[in-house]
Amino acid sequence: MREELKSILEKAGEQLKNAVNLSDVEDVRVKMLGKKSPLTDILRSMGKLPHEERKALGLEANQVRDSIEELIQKKLAVLRGQVRELKFKQESVDVTEPGITRDLGAKHLITQTIDCISQIFMAMGFSIAEGPEVETVFNNFDALNAPKNHPSRDLTDTFYITENTLLRTQTSPVQVRTIMAQEPPIKVISPGRCFRSDSPDATHSPMFHQIEGLLVDEGVTMTDLKGTLDVMAKELFGKETRTKFRPHHFPFTEPSAEMDVSCFKCKGKGCNICKGTGWIEILGCGMVHPNVLSVGGIDTEKYTGFAFGMGVERIAMLRYGVDDIRLFYDNDLRFLKQFK
Ligand code: DAH
Repeated sequence: MREELKSILEKAGEQLKNAVNLSDVEDVRVKMLGKKSPLTDILRSMGKLPHEERKALGLEANQVRDSIEELIQKKLAVLRGQVRELKFKQESVDVTEPGITRDLGAKHLITQTIDCISQIFMAMGFSIAEGPEVETVFNNFDALNAPKNHPSRDLTDTFYITENTLLRTQTSPVQVRTIMAQEPPIKVISPGRCFRSDSPDATHSPMFHQIEGLLVDEGVTMTDLKGTLDVMAKELFGKETRTKFRPHHFPFTEPSAEMDVSCFKCKGKGCNICKGTGWIEILGCGMVHPNVLSVGGIDTEKYTGFAFGMGVERIAMLRYGVDDIRLFYDNDLRFLKQFK
């Protein structure tokens, strides 16, 4: 039996030497120390031996068991150390390697243009008013003094949702909402999306953006309108920009005008941008019609106001030399990245 104990210990040592991973070691433990192991058999059969012999052999068998356990622990420590080392190697990073630069997003050119124009007016004391894109026919047309037979009301021009609601065709209904909600003095601009039933081409899109302006106070005149828009034109297109007001017609303003700016490319000499005229039309404006002010219960004897509205896409196209409005909505990164 002594011989057998010795060979068990040797076998265990041998097997542990060959173990390459933690589960191999576990197998050795089961085989050498488990219930069905030769060592357990020896310990079990010792009951039959005489007392003295049993004592001595028991001591030896227990020593063998402790030695095997010790060998197992040593092997486990070695293997765990190897595992840890491998993990360190795999997870190590070279902090001196250059980092990966990621493309950062940027504001869309239309948003940039709205931000820029809003800043100009906010610096002059205007605040931002907002209105919904789904509007009432009343706010979009009736309250803005549009005659019942005005062509812009046609189903072919306007997206109606119901008989009384539509996708706003202009930001002007925000004037109505503001007048109904606030007392003068009123000084707001309102950027937002508008919709018209237009087929897309280089200069038309069924969805586009406008910025509306409204100022109502005592003693406001056309001079205030011209001065305010002149500041905007100079900020937007350069200090030397001149402005010109041509008589026009809008139902919600009287008198009404269109404002031209001197061509910022040829400085008025005539080029392809201004189509040889030296001037570029950029917005509609006028003195708010008393019928509109009355909708909000404003005393038209005491208060007057001016209003204006401009197309954001048109201004962005002019400023950045974009020749097709559809480029704004295609979301082609090659286009968008030019304006980061
Ligand atoms: N709403 C007009 C349009 O869509 C633009 C406009 C013109 C707005 C004159 C105004 C204004 O406030 O006074 O064509």
